[in-house]
Amino acid sequence: MRLDKFICESTELTRSLAKRVIKSGEVTCNGDVVKDASFKVKDDTEVCIEGRQIKIVGERYIMMHKPVDTICSTIDEEYQSVLGLMDIEKVDTLHIAGRLDVDTTGLVLITSDGQWSHKITSPKKDCGKRYLIEAAASLDPALVETFAEGIKLKSEDGLTKPALLEIIDEYHARLTISEGKYHQVKRMFAAVGNRVVNLHREAVGEIELDADLEEGEWRFLTDAEIASI
Ligand code: URA
Repeated sequence: MRLDKFICESTELTRSLAKRVIKSGEVTCNGDVVKDASFKVKDDTEVCIEGRQIKIVGERYIMMHKPVDTICSTIDEEYQSVLGLMDIEKVDTLHIAGRLDVDTTGLVLITSDGQWSHKITSPKKDCGKRYLIEAAASLDPALVETFAEGIKLKSEDGLTKPALLEIIDEYHARLTISEGKYHQVKRMFAAVGNRVVNLHREAVGEIELDADLEEGEWRFLTDAEIASI
């Protein structure tokens, strides 16, 4: 890869700024100053700017514990974007794989890899999302079957895909759905005459929210987590 392209892919610099930095003599390859932007960087070339090594950023896969009053948008609006909570390079290359509402907490997956996030968000891929729910009214055990059969949501044709409801106690349950319709969980409970008062996403597919992450904290996914999607 050309040296100027390598610098663009490893830093925030644009191609023209990368060329300028190279011309200024601040860039070394394996210890030698290189002023030629077309210099070929190989896999084992150590590229430094002002003595600091830079590396290609590559695809990134991240989990965050989303706090309330943040939004799953790439920009801040009335509320802060979850991306704004991250001190990370090239944040503009990241997107959110499956949004949560402003008042929902829990697992949010963030990535630069569009094909990977499609596997999470496409209803055809059947990727389960598990939520912990607190309901306003007591949970009727008959709901387990109703949710498994599918629910007719207000202003939608057809039924939701089969969902797994596991009742924990009178007001708490776990619900696993494989679609991501707008406000789906809240609308499913509204459709059966109940209301969700607290919603928290615990898992997406086999990826569980890391119990060590406090609200607002994030970490890179492990190779096994990435491969599980
Ligand atoms: N369903 C909802 O209603 N809200 C969320 O944030 C996620 C799923």
